[in-house]
Amino acid sequence: MRLIFVLLTLLSSLAADDFITRTEYAKLLYLNPRGIGCDKCHGSDAKGKVIASFKQKGEIKNLVAPPINNITKADFFKALNNPKIVMPKYSLTNEEMESLYEYVTKQP
Ligand code: HEC
Repeated sequence: MRLIFVLLTLLSSLAADDFITRTEYAKLLYLNPRGIGCDKCHGSDAKGKVIASFKQKGEIKNLVAPPINNITKADFFKALNNPKIVMPKYSLTNEEMESLYEYVTKQP
């Protein structure tokens, strides 16, 4: 965990010097946002996916992480600052959230 943090700190300082592109930096952040990767629930393309299926009163229910590639910046920031039920709380800086937003909305 600490190694990842050190690497990310290193990479973000490199990003500032343009050794890696903004998109590369944002992708690393998406996969490793100092916690469980966004891709684990929202998918590598940010289009959302089923996280788990379970049976409730004989009916199959799906727990779904919604697509996040097509929401407004305001909703994106709001969700990250105040996650509702399932999503973990991250402590991301505004710059990090900006990078993530740019990244997910650029997914083809
Ligand atoms: C453990 C699974 C999980 C992880 C990891 C996760 N999310 Fe989520 N996310 C969800 C779920 C489920 C919701 C729907 C609201 C809820 O139940 O919390 C959600 C909601 C959102 C929303 C609001 C979508 C909307 O339509 O309003 C955004 C934006 C979002 N996530 C972004 C992210 C980003 C960026 C990351 C990584 C930093 C991330 N999520 C990591 C499960 C996850």
